[in-house]
Amino acid sequence: MAHKFPKDFIFGAATSAYQIEGAAFEDGRGQTMWDVIHRDQEGKPTQDVGDIACDHYHRYKDDIKLMKELGLQSYRFSISWVRIYPQGAGEINPLGVNFYQNLIDELIKNGIEPTATLWHGDLPLVYDEKGGWLNPEVIEHYLNYAKTCFDLFGDRVKIWYTHNEPWCAAFLNEHPLGDQLQIAHHLMIAHARVIKLYRNHLNGDGKIGIVLNLGKQYPKTFEKMDQFAARNVDGFVNRWFLDPVIKGEYPKDMMELYRKQGHHFIIESKDLDELKRYPMDFLGINMYSRGVQSYAPFNPPFYAQDYHMPEAIYTEMGWEVCPSSLYELLMDIKEKYHNIEVFITENGAAFKDEMIDNKIHDPLRADFIKKHLEAVQKAISHGVNVTRYYAWSLFDNFEWGLGYSKRFGIIHIDYETQKRTIKASGYCYQRIIQKRSL
Ligand code: BGC
Repeated sequence: MAHKFPKDFIFGAATSAYQIEGAAFEDGRGQTMWDVIHRDQEGKPTQDVGDIACDHYHRYKDDIKLMKELGLQSYRFSISWVRIYPQGAGEINPLGVNFYQNLIDELIKNGIEPTATLWHGDLPLVYDEKGGWLNPEVIEHYLNYAKTCFDLFGDRVKIWYTHNEPWCAAFLNEHPLGDQLQIAHHLMIAHARVIKLYRNHLNGDGKIGIVLNLGKQYPKTFEKMDQFAARNVDGFVNRWFLDPVIKGEYPKDMMELYRKQGHHFIIESKDLDELKRYPMDFLGINMYSRGVQSYAPFNPPFYAQDYHMPEAIYTEMGWEVCPSSLYELLMDIKEKYHNIEVFITENGAAFKDEMIDNKIHDPLRADFIKKHLEAVQKAISHGVNVTRYYAWSLFDNFEWGLGYSKRFGIIHIDYETQKRTIKASGYCYQRIIQKRSL
């Protein structure tokens, strides 16, 4: 007989504001860096933009009906900073606030728990122009925005995420590595201070954590040097964020590696004290794939090269499908990070969909979700404290630099008509939620 998920295990799906909302120029919303990245100087799009996206801003009520039909218990969305503060700080925009009040109320009315990410990639343009997170001033503005969100929504939103994937914000840019490490550190300080604020806040009676993109790193062979390469990439992607947010310190081997190579960044001990003093309640993991590393002597800083597994299935993103690595990642977290409570805050895959008789066939995506949930079950049976799973994503949506070309949704979006169609993977997930087993 198939195993049941624990009674209090929660199934949900995730999205983010810029990727689905659209209504980019409505109701007083300010501009984010993403409103300009794909535009020329006259404002004409040079690539896909999120002006309309899934038009969720106007269609949220119908979208919540679909969530209900799928049986979702919880929904992870992000709040758009510039809908609340069009200029990043200063005047609050009441129409932007209304949108989230209505969204939250409608979710609760439909028996779906709202959970909110404070920042999911869409930094206000005003701050991007001042250097983004490299500029420590942004931290104060972020705290002010976070406080406003707790004031406005904290009575009904009881699960909060500080940042989504700080690794991407820190490292997917053109800055030199020293500055990137500084950005990462500013994000860590901001994270700790938001937690402090939440703890001291009137409504701070829920749970708060961070969302990290993690992927287990394997050496290509048992050779010592391949292991060295895998350990470096693990340090870069995983431990550089896990260690500060859970232990209040940075990994020594990576510190040494960066310093030896002359990358300059400043970490003060008082910042680490703050991280130690305000631990988070849970760790959110976005898991899509793993890495296999081979030693590459001429490839600093990590002396590693990604190895392509000849037999494996790769998604449209070029990411290897490897559900067993999720189980192993979770076991690592249990052992090395005090068995902290874990939510899988994103997991999913971009595959091509096939439309047959008005139905969307996506067997590879359905299989991906099932196999990863199997890995979660196995981890639970081995004592890992994983309590939630959010599929990425509820809808096909704006996949950042890749626009609308990659589809991650369990609900298909026809971008011409905005018609929504639950895919076969969505129905598969619905059955899993109904049965609470695979
Ligand atoms: C992000 C999402 C993104 C997804 C697929 C994560 O990196 O949080 O915004 O769409 O993965 O790339």
